[in-house]
Amino acid sequence: MIDFQAEIAGVVAGLPAIEEAGLSAADVLDLIEVPADSAKGDYAFPCFRLAKALRKAPPAIAADLVQQLGQKAPVGVSRIQAEGPYLNFFLDRALVARDVVGAVLEAGAAYGSATVAERRPVIVEFSSPNIAKPFHIGHIRSTVIGNSIEKIYRFLGYDTIRINHLGDYGTQFGKMIVAYRKWGSEEAVNAAPIESLISYYKKFHEEADSDPALEDEAREVFAALERGSEEELKLWQWFREESLKEFGRVYDMLGITFDSYNGESFYSDKMERVTDELAEKGLLEESDGAQIVRLDAYNMPPAMIRKSDGSTLYITRDIAAAIYRKETYDFAKNIYVVASQQNLHFSQWFTVLRLMGYEWAADCVHIPFGLVSLEDGVMKSRLGNVVFLEDVLTRAVERTKEIIIEKNVNTDDIEETARQVGIGAVIFNELANNRIKDYVFRWEKVLNFDGETGPYVQYSHARAASVLRKAGAEADTVAADGVNGECLSSDRAYPLVKLLGSFPAAIKEAGEKYEPSILTRHIIDVAQAFNRFYHDEQILVEDAAERRARIALVAAARQVIATGLGLLGVEAPDRM
Ligand code: ARG
Repeated sequence: MIDFQAEIAGVVAGLPAIEEAGLSAADVLDLIEVPADSAKGDYAFPCFRLAKALRKAPPAIAADLVQQLGQKAPVGVSRIQAEGPYLNFFLDRALVARDVVGAVLEAGAAYGSATVAERRPVIVEFSSPNIAKPFHIGHIRSTVIGNSIEKIYRFLGYDTIRINHLGDYGTQFGKMIVAYRKWGSEEAVNAAPIESLISYYKKFHEEADSDPALEDEAREVFAALERGSEEELKLWQWFREESLKEFGRVYDMLGITFDSYNGESFYSDKMERVTDELAEKGLLEESDGAQIVRLDAYNMPPAMIRKSDGSTLYITRDIAAAIYRKETYDFAKNIYVVASQQNLHFSQWFTVLRLMGYEWAADCVHIPFGLVSLEDGVMKSRLGNVVFLEDVLTRAVERTKEIIIEKNVNTDDIEETARQVGIGAVIFNELANNRIKDYVFRWEKVLNFDGETGPYVQYSHARAASVLRKAGAEADTVAADGVNGECLSSDRAYPLVKLLGSFPAAIKEAGEKYEPSILTRHIIDVAQAFNRFYHDEQILVEDAAERRARIALVAAARQVIATGLGLLGVEAPDRM
């Protein structure tokens, strides 16, 4: 595909006025914008930056630049116009349409992908729930955002590694084992693992209020677990397996897999080394019997590395895990998709890594996100105020099935379509907003077939697929001898063409900013532009040139929506 922005920058950078003002080619490329109003052209070059050097008002400079450009129009530019302080560039629509639609159809599912020279992997750590705790609606954010970020990086050419840093270690497991022995039963855990374990844990805290000896008992049991005592280890392993079974059901529903489930327990034998190293480097200090690293100089509370009873902490395991990952994978980037409530935790231990002299600490990135809450009374849960993610997903599929039946949606497999659309709707909704924003989960918003939702985009995709089915064999050959761009330069087709053309840039930006919502917004725009085109134009018209060009545009739109949904982790059904 032609990079029109670069073509324009190349020509503009060579103009005498630009050289006089001392702007480099890179500066010019940077300054070029895409005007929000298409009446102002496809690209615009603002002249403010030149005013000082040239001692002229920006509008006068814009006029001069038009003069200097004379006959030297950049490739693909059909008209140049000075308007106020801007130089506006209008592209040759037919050429753009031919170029973009041709490029999409030629690349197919690879359209928008990239390759990189970097051979070191990018680690994306996400989801990371705590075992023996509910996998609740709050976990959806890390799970779905992380999944999409990983897919985007892979599509952009990086080798990626997906890690689930399970919360499967810590003093709470001492409590859980004590509670299980006192009040639990094997049958109950087998029947409903997480609910049973949580109820034991709750009971432990209630009882411990009046019987502090329980706490000591729990500490001893955890110490035994840390020493590798067989009986405790067996129980802990069993709790872990049962929890993983529950988590696995949710991951299956979401279509998510991991390369590694190395959670906190995996680092139990790798923390000694961290403490030793910190001591060696003179960073460790004793405080009330505990071992800490002071971070006063960075305006942060100290990082506690070991408690006074010798047990390690969450932060110790994170430091050990980062060092392990660096040594094992030699990552280029180590990304953590974790709630913004943990901002301080991450700042603390990233700082500790830097103090240890690890320059690669700069390659560790925390990607925070805001809170999700549910509208009141939305769902009863098995555990009172906790809403299980599994129940939300199941509910989404059930409700979608009702809507499908009510709307008489075109499908030959209601169950399968309900699954694809229901799950897709929840994921899409999650990725529709800027990740840092808190948001409220509302059913009407999630499953609305007409709003800016997953079902709407999936429906647009299915509509395009349906047109292509009707076009039959012709749909496969429309790109072969080049797309007739003249037929796609109308105000109905061209906006869609442009959105297809900027899809690769949207993917890149979503990756650079770790912000899948940029991609979500883009495919909503594509779906809307497609629907406008579809609404205003007949596709399968008599005239062969028109028909072939329109089919080609529909095929390209279908491809871009499918690829975009795929990068969000959402399926794209061909019928609905
Ligand atoms: N298990 C933690 C929780 O549920 C999240 C873990 C985040 N990852 C990390 N490396 N600290 O809060």
